[in-house]
Amino acid sequence: MSIRILATSPLVGPALVDLGTRFPDLCVAPFRSPEWNAALAQAEAVVVLVTEPITEADLDAAPRLKAIGAYSVGVNQVPVAACQARGITVVNTPGVLTDATADIALTLLMALTRRVAEGETLVRSGAWQGWAPDQLLGSGLAGKICGILGSGSIGQAFARRVRVLGMTPIFWDREGRGGEADFGAGHASRMPLVDLLSRSAVLSIHCPLTDQTRGLLDRSSLEKLPAGAVIINTARGGILDENAAIGLLESGHLGGVGLDVYEGEPRINPRWVRAPRTVLLPHLGSATVETRAAMAHLLCEGLAAALGACPSN
Ligand code: DGY
Repeated sequence: MSIRILATSPLVGPALVDLGTRFPDLCVAPFRSPEWNAALAQAEAVVVLVTEPITEADLDAAPRLKAIGAYSVGVNQVPVAACQARGITVVNTPGVLTDATADIALTLLMALTRRVAEGETLVRSGAWQGWAPDQLLGSGLAGKICGILGSGSIGQAFARRVRVLGMTPIFWDREGRGGEADFGAGHASRMPLVDLLSRSAVLSIHCPLTDQTRGLLDRSSLEKLPAGAVIINTARGGILDENAAIGLLESGHLGGVGLDVYEGEPRINPRWVRAPRTVLLPHLGSATVETRAAMAHLLCEGLAAALGACPSN
């Protein structure tokens, strides 16, 4: 049987099923299962999730492949250059998850600085003895500087949120984008990484994982942050040197770390679970019904275009 579209999940909403009616021979099988491996040889389009890396060997095994759809904003799980060299279109889901991801970064920041998880545990455990002047004191955000790595749409959406809290956002961008013209006069500014790090009470990561950003926040970079600084990562795990961050949490240099993404997820470094002053989420950045359905729609329209169909309305 010929498989035109090979996916590992039905995604959210009707988009993939609809695509399957426009391009019959849709196969949904677990990533790298025997069924998936067999279907790959037939597939014209492959859909993968954020944790399902495609290799060049997969491209070799898929001679009919015209398109790969990454159900994510990042495409670090796809060998993009090798796809380009073979004329394979890579489709992803930018734009539609901007607000959801900025919201989860803000959630992590608030939860961390106001000790929400510890407070919840205290109440649920039955150990709460009542209000006390010095109980679970957090730290305020107004008047502080928020360093943002990446001035794309998610970084800018996060900046809008922290401005409302009375923080001043500053940016570093790997492509040198940004300045007053981009962010609005008097609102934010772009600066070299070393300057941004030395000023940031909060550091939030919003750049893609690329060869340039892998390991960007190593120990020597993290040590440039002011004592007590807080790090939020909703981008990709490989950008932050996790062992260095844990070491600086344990030494007291970092005030806290809030994570939604991890190097090698869903496996996580066991030291995170024991590390103090952390909030750990299971990659929820785009996890709203509306966002995941919009991602599926955008992805499937992109695949339909790559396969040569007119996009539906
Ligand atoms: C992303 O790109 O990180 C999304 O949240 C997951 O697909």
